[in-house]
Amino acid sequence: DAAEKGGFETFMLKEIHEQADAVADTIADRTVRPDGVDLPELDDELLRGATRLIIVACGTSYHAGLIGRYALEEWARIPVEMDVASEYRYRNPVVGPGDIVIGITQSGETLDTLAAMRLARERGATVIAVTNIMGSQATRDAHSTVYTRAGLEIGVAATKTFVAQVAVMYLLALRMAELRGTLTPERRTELVTRLKRIPHDIGVMLDKGSETIDRVAERHFEKEFFLYLGRHVGLPVSLEGALKLKEISYIATDAYAAGEMKHGPIALLDQDTPVVVVATDSPVLEKVISNIQEVKVRGAHVIAVATEGTDLGDNAEDTLRVPPTDWMLQPLLAVIPLQLLAYRIARLRGLNVDQPRNLAKTVTVE
Ligand code: G6P
Repeated sequence: DAAEKGGFETFMLKEIHEQADAVADTIADRTVRPDGVDLPELDDELLRGATRLIIVACGTSYHAGLIGRYALEEWARIPVEMDVASEYRYRNPVVGPGDIVIGITQSGETLDTLAAMRLARERGATVIAVTNIMGSQATRDAHSTVYTRAGLEIGVAATKTFVAQVAVMYLLALRMAELRGTLTPERRTELVTRLKRIPHDIGVMLDKGSETIDRVAERHFEKEFFLYLGRHVGLPVSLEGALKLKEISYIATDAYAAGEMKHGPIALLDQDTPVVVVATDSPVLEKVISNIQEVKVRGAHVIAVATEGTDLGDNAEDTLRVPPTDWMLQPLLAVIPLQLLAYRIARLRGLNVDQPRNLAKTVTVE
């Protein structure tokens, strides 16, 4: 057992530390050209001619899809719909020829995702699977498959498969942008260069460790509720951070679009509430800082995830720093401190992070 964990105390911690490799392996031979991405698994004509993309997934894979939606719309200028598979399959969706449906599932066996993919295929859409498992059912149900290359994940809470899925969504968005002529070669070169640097940045962050994360965990591990906020690509990062904490520490969490805070969650805030805000560099950072101020005025504790070198003023109690990168790519870095924070808190609460109660790694039932 100890040998399987490669010297780490749990599989989850080992897998968190494998994330630089998960991204590096996933992008490797797909980013050999400086100004573009190659995905020979997918038909160029299909990607060029698509009028709409629909992404279906569950759990953490759903959050990867949400990030993909922002990148696909921003870079490839194609409309993207996104739904959790268990909703999509039961809402008699309008889908058919001309649509590309992407099912994201690390296991390739999640029943709801498979059912949503099959439904779309029956109605004439082209179906692409994004999965980590060779030969899984999703690969058989789809017209084509793009593999993530995270290696086997054992911890029930997904970590390295998530960053690999996000990397695939960026690859797909860049490929489509090139085929559809929606990004200049200069911008594509910049993005490919930045993407290739991400594994290095993840590695440095993980090697350095973080006293701030340990301190925040010590201070808040007995709290009953955490609120997570984010905007734009920071929103799915918030959703994923909140899911990680809930899954392994059993602390109630809510994750919200920061702009929606005033329509509900703000009523939950008191002196005791830790509020995790994803505040990495982006065109919406000023808006996020305003949200942080609104939280602070209510006396709650702000834990910000911010880009190194960015001044958030003195509004956050604690700031978890991530290296600079292109703002669209920030999720690959910003999720890491949130995984570690959830991990530390769960350990302080004495819980089995690899096998949380009531959860399964693969959900093959409704
Ligand atoms: C379960 C797992 C999650 C995972 C979800 C979707 O709930 O506990 O970690 O995100 O299933 O799994 P999939 O294999 O489809 O990505």
